[in-house]
Amino acid sequence: MRTDESAKLYEKARKLMPGGVSSPVRAIDPYPFYVQKASDSRIWDADGNLYIDYCMGYGPLILGHAHPAVYAAVAEQLKSGWDYGTPVKAEIDLAERIQADFPSMEMLRFVSTGTEATMSAIRAARGFTGKDTIVKVEGGYHGAHDAVLVKPGSAAISAASSLGVPAAAVKNTVQVPFNDVEALSGALEKNDAACLIIEPVMGNIGPVVPEEAYLSDVRKVTEENETLLIFDEVITGFRLCIGGAQCLYGVTPDLTTLGKIVGGGFPMGVFGGAKEIMECVAPTGGVFNAGTFSGHPVSLAAGLATLSVLNEEGYRRVNGLGDLLRRMLVDLLEELDVHISVQGIGTMFQVFFTEKLVRNYRDALTCNTDLYKKFSAYMRDEGIFLAPSQYETNFISLAHSNEDLEYTIRACANAFERLYNLEVDTPGY
Ligand SMILES: Cc1ncc(COP(=O)(O)O)c(C=O)c1O
Repeated sequence: MRTDESAKLYEKARKLMPGGVSSPVRAIDPYPFYVQKASDSRIWDADGNLYIDYCMGYGPLILGHAHPAVYAAVAEQLKSGWDYGTPVKAEIDLAERIQADFPSMEMLRFVSTGTEATMSAIRAARGFTGKDTIVKVEGGYHGAHDAVLVKPGSAAISAASSLGVPAAAVKNTVQVPFNDVEALSGALEKNDAACLIIEPVMGNIGPVVPEEAYLSDVRKVTEENETLLIFDEVITGFRLCIGGAQCLYGVTPDLTTLGKIVGGGFPMGVFGGAKEIMECVAPTGGVFNAGTFSGHPVSLAAGLATLSVLNEEGYRRVNGLGDLLRRMLVDLLEELDVHISVQGIGTMFQVFFTEKLVRNYRDALTCNTDLYKKFSAYMRDEGIFLAPSQYETNFISLAHSNEDLEYTIRACANAFERLYNLEVDTPGY
């Protein structure tokens, strides 16, 4: 496989941008591939190599790349201009649609990123309750703002925090392990907290599902301690099913954050929840929130178009593909006698290079990240683009096919063969 063009581009980029990239997770070793175009489940690099894409923009592209409905809606919006600094009807249309699917979001506010959504939701929780302390889950990633950059997942997982975050900015942030309601209960008894912010299915240490009754226990304990519950559904919203994790698990948070899919692949974040909390947000209340690009017409058009394509039947099909891929991966690993963990839910999946079942951040830290790095590199050689970090989630879209999955399993067999020096007889795959 030739990657000369990507190598050349990277040589230029690394002199211009830290690590040559615009976001750290994109810094693939020794250099990332540069994308020329993408459609459906496929992505082509600058050297003309083709990959089946499971990174899918890190989650927004549930319809696959360049879906015609999204293309048409964006093109239509562009004809009328794209940035007005005034309200537009599409805001109301999308707000109504979100509210219908997420009834807990009685009122909501559009922002431009998931980071802004969680920052604003936390500010609203603090403003509403008059309390400073917040609780987050170890390995939970809620974007790149100061208060949540303590043991974050994703690209910053190995750092306890980030340089440049003042101690004062995180002194009111308490950490608890996922899937451990007793630890949460203890933390809330010790700390009078404004809110708990939690990814109901963790996505930024790889996908980790909540155990039986964990989320309903979390709801109970937060209520008992008068702590608001924020579900960060930036990944899970419109991903697990139409109503997100709160619908799937039947647990109602006080506040919700959305991003990724709701913007149809264009920048968007949303935070919303109980009316009495959201009325604290400016201009009706004193919790400040603002943004030049908030409720951007192009993102609204793309979001509305994306949601108009999604339906129960589509989720059944695409979640079925996820189940099938995980099953095929487990069978393959069993056949190869390789003991690593395949985890996920619906369209979210990851191969964890640990024998442990990953239930939380500490389990995730037992993964052999060097092996994953090699595995994902070998998979790129096979024409499969997986998230390059062990601590990310891979995504299946409605554009993926059974043939894509079968090809992927054959590629996995070859990659594991290289990785573990196995003699693999692949005809079955
Ligand atoms: C759960 C979660 N919350 C918040 C964010 C931040 O979103 P953004 O990157 O759009 O700022 C992310 C990003 O991956 C995320 O996964």
